[in-house]
Amino acid sequence: MAYDLIVIGSGPGGYVCAIKAAQLGLKVAVVERRATYGGTCLNIGCIPSKALLHASETYAHAAHGMEPLGIEGVKPTLNLAKMMGHKDATVKANVDGVAFLFKKNKIDGIRGTGKVLGQGKVSVTGDNGEEQVLETKSIVIATGSDVAGIPGVPVEIDEKVIVSSTGGIALEKVPGHLVVVGGGVIGLELGSVWGRLGSKVTVVEYLDTILGGMDGEVSKQYRRMLAKQGMDFKLGAKVTGVEKGGKGAKVTFEPVKGGEATVLDADVVLIATGRKPYTDGLGLAEAGVAMDSRGRVEIDGHFRTSVEGVYAIGDVVRGPMLAHKAEDEGVALAEILAGQAGHVNYDVIPSVVYTQPEVASVGQTEEELKTAGVAYKAGKFPFTANGRARAMMATDGFVKVLSDKETDRVLGVHIVGFGAGEMIHEAAVLMEFGGSAEDLARTCHAHPTMSEAVKEAALAAFFKPLHM
Ligand code: NAI
Repeated sequence: MAYDLIVIGSGPGGYVCAIKAAQLGLKVAVVERRATYGGTCLNIGCIPSKALLHASETYAHAAHGMEPLGIEGVKPTLNLAKMMGHKDATVKANVDGVAFLFKKNKIDGIRGTGKVLGQGKVSVTGDNGEEQVLETKSIVIATGSDVAGIPGVPVEIDEKVIVSSTGGIALEKVPGHLVVVGGGVIGLELGSVWGRLGSKVTVVEYLDTILGGMDGEVSKQYRRMLAKQGMDFKLGAKVTGVEKGGKGAKVTFEPVKGGEATVLDADVVLIATGRKPYTDGLGLAEAGVAMDSRGRVEIDGHFRTSVEGVYAIGDVVRGPMLAHKAEDEGVALAEILAGQAGHVNYDVIPSVVYTQPEVASVGQTEEELKTAGVAYKAGKFPFTANGRARAMMATDGFVKVLSDKETDRVLGVHIVGFGAGEMIHEAAVLMEFGGSAEDLARTCHAHPTMSEAVKEAALAAFFKPLHM
């Protein structure tokens, strides 16, 4: 049977594209190599890591956070296997949910490794080595990304002692010393999980800042908060070797500016130095699909590759490697394939780091505005001046609203604080509608909420904050 659309890969990009296309009346199949749907995000990424972040945060709160509230004598004991059970159950509910949605939308799930044979043809090789060739009008490559490793440094990841995020969410015991290579999102999230459960955590980062690309002021204050929680940072430090040895592994790093090497002994080393597009075995070169210089599938503004009828979305193409960016691309592409006008606004893609406090941002940073020569106003408001934050003892952090000096249009919002990942969306909606700092400040915010700090920061950008 011929399909309208075959999607290769069932991560957030692929499965959302398939559902949207089916809702719009297309006959859709999804090819997936893994035993369950949902890709990296649902199986070994976003979802399981959030289960562990929540559980470890609850443990840390019970261990240290309750006495100041007058709740004394709570001494939690850690049952790591049970915590991992919560993670596994969360994953199962989510991947089963995708299978249910496929059934509901009459999407054919085809288990096996997909290969693009050219326009209109996809081969699928099952676990038993049998190959079938399927015909379709359109093909979507949504194969995601894989661990990049450390550029120029051979590292043998065994997922026990030297781990990627995959092993980092499945350790059988809490490491005494966890060395994290890379101070990006994965390193800080998983470093937080194990730090809360009792590990000493050292983060070795090449740049002078953590979360490179994040607003500089946010990154600096956030690092201080993590340091206060006990995370140790070696910045401007280039890791040159990771080898098994000693009590687990040895990590060698040297100052980027030059100087003597240092060796750290670790029980476990987490390699979190980025991800690369995953296109292994897809047959893209043979099919004539062009790649860019960074190994990503090249696409135009409508997700079209160089081969007619072959499209690509998500981590395998340009742009931030974020599940929600992939989802929105999936929706836009399905709409285009159904004859509608699909579109993604890349200027308004929020990003969230799910540590405690959370970091959330949307739009441009002060550094980006300065580089672009844009005249802007910055309004800031600290959670120390917010009543709800005080009541919850969650006063760490602040909100920063950046708006155009001439027009007052909001260009970026950056939040570090409790619940930042939820609060950021009012800024995203405002920016999607081209709203101004005054619009945000004049929108009635319920009292007492943490979100009032967003309103106050907007007030600060266009006039003056009331409560500071
Ligand atoms: P990343 O790109 O965020 O950070 C990697 C860090 O490693 C960089 O700061 C880089 O300077 C550093 N690094 C590279 N080579 C080094 C060396 N030799 N020595 C020391 N440091 C070195 O990558 P990460 O954290 O692995 O995440 C991968 C992707 O997954 C990212 O695109 C991220 O956005 C996404 N992700 C998003 C999450 C979220 O939105 N909450 C959660 C987890 C992952």
